[in-house]
Amino acid sequence: MIGRLNHVAIAVSDLDAAVRTYRDTLGARVSAPLRLPEHGVVTIFVELPNTKIELLAPLGEDSPIAKFLARNPDGGIHHLCYEVDDILAARDRLKADGARVLGNGEPRIGAHGKPVLFLHPKDLCGTLVELEEA
Ligand code: CO
Repeated sequence: MIGRLNHVAIAVSDLDAAVRTYRDTLGARVSAPLRLPEHGVVTIFVELPNTKIELLAPLGEDSPIAKFLARNPDGGIHHLCYEVDDILAARDRLKADGARVLGNGEPRIGAHGKPVLFLHPKDLCGTLVELEEA
């Protein structure tokens, strides 16, 4: 059911410092920042030949990554994003197997303008998983 690894997301408290690390030290191509108020984050994508790294920084008062950064002040791997062909079919199959979909269970539009869903880490080997319809 899952396809390509679309991206690995790393939560950071200092987006400028993270950009300097990826662009200047590691020599990667880095996108402009994208503010996603409805997700409570600012994202920057690092383009790698085989996948992407999503740098995530909090936006607004009750950002969903604020608690994560309080526990991981240096930043850390936050989620993995897998591509699926049909996000509603994927969701229904996961729910039938007992996996919990975060939020209201309906896909939202993610950073690439495509529908995304997040799945509870407790149901997926301790890893927060994002599904994106590719
Ligand atoms: Co993501």
